Amino acid sequence: MKRRRKTLWGAALLALVFTAGLPAGPGAAALKGAEPSTWFVDMGRFNQGAHASLTCGQCHPKHLKAGQKGSQFKHPDITSPRYLKAPVRREYNYHLCADCHRTAWKRYLGGAHAEAMRRQAQDPPKAGALLAPTCADCHNPHYILGGRDRLALGRRQVRVCGSCHPAQAATYRQSYHGKAAANLGNTRAAFCTDCHGAHTAVSLKDPTVAIQACRRCHLDAPPNFAQMVMHPTLAGLDPKRDAGKLWRVNLILTVGMIMFVIVLVVVGSYYGHHLLWMLRELHHKIRKHGHEE
Ligand code: HEC
Ligand code: HEC
Ligand code: HEC
Ligand code: HEC
Ligand code: HEC
Ligand code: HEC
Repeated sequence: MKRRRKTLWGAALLALVFTAGLPAGPGAAALKGAEPSTWFVDMGRFNQGAHASLTCGQCHPKHLKAGQKGSQFKHPDITSPRYLKAPVRREYNYHLCADCHRTAWKRYLGGAHAEAMRRQAQDPPKAGALLAPTCADCHNPHYILGGRDRLALGRRQVRVCGSCHPAQAATYRQSYHGKAAANLGNTRAAFCTDCHGAHTAVSLKDPTVAIQACRRCHLDAPPNFAQMVMHPTLAGLDPKRDAGKLWRVNLILTVGMIMFVIVLVVVGSYYGHHLLWMLRELHHKIRKHGHEE
């Protein structure tokens, strides 16, 4: 009896330790994208960033104590042991970015991610579902670097966009553009934003929309150029809306599988044949050796 009680206490303690380590707030575990900010601001890195010339107050003008008059958003409750883990990314007033970055702001507001955010505000997604990104999900406001070259930015996109769209990032890496641009550093080839835009996040499922993106580089691409599947993945496809792509992806996957089997059979019989041949030779040698004795 005593022993069982001890085990119970142990289990309770373990559960406590375990849950205490989890981030607070619904959906916090699903935060993805750029490096999240923490309550420790590394001033060495801050001073090397694009915002080094700004003061903290320019972005946190009214970051006052909770309940204090004029506070724009609540300061976390410092008496709670969880206060250092409160996710602030989604509560920040991003209108402040618009004061200095009007174009990015406008494009973002008119784009698919802001649209998804409005939809999620109406109809909150289930815990663990993918949340639509705000500015800080793609740009760490404290450490964002300025003056980076196209290759560094492009490779970062594969990582940041890919944290929420892993299937597209994986298929991009395997594609001609991904291999040329992200792998080999050919900056004439396309990164994510060359086709989708950084802030508009345009859907390119419609080939008549996609062709416009292609023609920025493939100047004389014929209309059917954009019919090809850029991301051969089944992720996020709706059986009704995306029937055309579904069929083509299934075809690509089936052909890929058949090719794999063919390669396996060819390589397998090649080495299998060699192995048998080696055994035969060995057998032959041993027998010959035996005869000579
Ligand atoms: C360019 C605007 C900008 C500047 C400048 C800035 N911040 Fe922030 N800060 C933000 C944004 C946006 C967030 C919320 C999003 C996030 O967590 O990344 C934030 C979040 C924070 C947080 C909360 C982090 C968390 O994990 O909840 C702290 C603390 C903070 N900033 C402190 C500072 C200090 C100190 C400075 C000055 C050295 C500073 N900030 C300068 C934009 C800025
Ligand atoms: C989905 C990710 C994403 C979101 C959300 C996002 N950005 Fe960007 N932003 C990018 C990418 C990608 C670039 C291109 C350069 C790069 O790769 O960093 C960029 C570039 C920029 C630039 C520099 C070039 C330019 O266009 O002036 C600024 C400034 C900027 N973003 C501000 C913002 C602001 C402000 C917000 C919020 C309204 C925001 N971004 C939201 C991904 C994002
Ligand atoms: C008070 C003005 C100001 C505010 C507010 C501000 N920024 Fe900036 N931001 C700047 C300046 C100045 C630069 C450097 C511009 C440059 O190097 O051309 C910059 C650069 C950037 C860059 C580009 C880095 C690059 O690739 O060159 C991004 C991204 C960015 N800011 C995002 C944000 C976000 C997100 C917010 C809101 C949290 C924000 N900024 C708020 C002034 C501001
Ligand atoms: C924090 C997660 C997150 C990040 C980071 C992110 N996205 Fe998204 N993205 C979403 C969500 C959520 C949606 C909406 C999905 C839906 O509605 O089904 C979306 C939708 C899209 C769409 C489809 C638009 C449509 O109308 O169907 C494209 C294209 C896209 N994102 C591209 C990008 C690119 C490019 C980047 C990097 C610059 C990026 N995303 C970064 C979460 C993210
Ligand atoms: C060469 C242009 C090109 C590049 C580069 C590219 N995409 Fe796409 N993307 C497309 C096209 C075309 C579609 C629609 C057809 C398809 O899915 O194959 C699409 C579809 C998507 C979708 C599905 C939603 C929709 O409606 O379009 C997402 C999400 C997405 N891409 C994200 C990314 C990310 C993340 C990267 C970088 C890792 C990337 N894309 C790189 C052309 C591109
Ligand atoms: C940022 C510029 C850029 C964009 C945008 C772009 N591409 Fe490309 N693409 C390239 C470059 C550069 C190459 C390599 C050409 C070479 O090696 O000569 C390439 C190669 C290709 C190839 C393989 C080689 C070939 O020439 O047949 C295909 C297929 C292709 N792109 C399709 C597309 C499609 C479809 C889109 C639109 C959805 C698109 N590209 C958008 C730059 C781009």
